[in-house]
Amino acid sequence: MSKKVVILFGTESGNAEFAAEDIAAEIDGRDSEVVDMTDFDIADFTSDNFYIIICSTHGEGDLPSGAVPFYGALEADTPDLSGVEFGIFGLGDSSYENYSKGSERIDEKLRDLGAKRVGDYGRHDADTGTLPNASAVAWSQELLASH
Ligand SMILES: Cc1cc2nc3c(=O)[nH]c(=O)nc-3n(C[C@H](O)[C@H](O)[C@H](O)COP(=O)(O)O)c2cc1C
Repeated sequence: MSKKVVILFGTESGNAEFAAEDIAAEIDGRDSEVVDMTDFDIADFTSDNFYIIICSTHGEGDLPSGAVPFYGALEADTPDLSGVEFGIFGLGDSSYENYSKGSERIDEKLRDLGAKRVGDYGRHDADTGTLPNASAVAWSQELLASH
């Protein structure tokens, strides 16, 4: 049976949240849940679920404020995440010097703690003038076809 999909979003101004909701709306025949990183207890990470991480970048390549407590908890508690699998989609804007670095920091931290990234690293570039929703949904559908 396919694992439940937990979609964790980290946002500053809402784009990652809207994309996470659209991803969940398109998931068929499989349990899913959208959770704000701010409200997520890192002790709940389990290999029974599959995680989709949607995270933007703010400041100068910094985490969005919604991802700061999540990242801080991972740093402080250093949980063993071996067996946990995740796919990641970064929101950014290539007109900034540190393109998409916020999501990359989350990716690096999860992998440092033993989690495994699967599938292609999804990206959306706001410099294209488009919203991330359609490309995030297409990316997730491809990812979930094999995970
Ligand atoms: C003040 C500000 C700073 C930003 N800094 C960066 C940055 O350093 N690197 C980047 O790739 N994108 C940067 N962005 C672009 C955002 O990541 C992008 O607009 C994203 O879609 C926002 O998603 P969110 O609404 O979920 O936070 C910045 C946007 C703003 C408004």
